[in-house]
Amino acid sequence: MKKIDPRELELRPIQQLLDDWMLLSAGDFVQESWNAMTVAWGFIGAMWRRPVAITPVRSTRFTKGFMERYDTWTLTAFPEAFREDLQLLGTRSGRDGDKVAESALTPTAATQIAAPTYTQAILSIECRTIYWNDISPEQMRDAALDTFYENDYHRMYYGEILAVNVMD
Ligand SMILES: Cc1cc2nc3c(=O)[nH]c(=O)nc-3n(C[C@H](O)[C@H](O)[C@H](O)COP(=O)(O)O)c2cc1C
Repeated sequence: MKKIDPRELELRPIQQLLDDWMLLSAGDFVQESWNAMTVAWGFIGAMWRRPVAITPVRSTRFTKGFMERYDTWTLTAFPEAFREDLQLLGTRSGRDGDKVAESALTPTAATQIAAPTYTQAILSIECRTIYWNDISPEQMRDAALDTFYENDYHRMYYGEILAVNVMD
């Protein structure tokens, strides 16, 4: 992997998230206190003059506790060969066992933050939470949005992008 300036990141963010999916990993790798889950929604852009990624996490996710207790998280992308692993990590909960160990992914230390990345990642975005807000039904201008929820509204975590590493 090589480190690049976030401004130099070449990505199709909508395709990467909606179609190819990413992995959100939050917590502390060295302390062995972290969890990961697949995400297909989110944003990569700019806010407060900083490069920022926004990741929506439903209240029911085990990962949410790690997003609350720890400051840092990664968003990682993988080659197509790991799709089944992303499927596993997006359907099984870390509450019920070590799903990452059951996958083909190998967690490893990130470059600048405590949350882990993976040796198989082709893109790794290292973030530190600087803000959050909750999706609320009162603020929906399109009632169809509420059909996505059963009182498990997303918390949107805004992470300042501290490092971006891409495949050499
Ligand atoms: C393709 C895909 C995309 C997903 N996107 C999200 C998402 O953006 N936000 C979210 O909260 N859950 C999302 N999920 C669901 C979580 O990944 C899933 O519930 C996971 O098992 C949670 O694991 P945890 O309980 O260990 O945190 C997605 C699942 C899949 C398969």
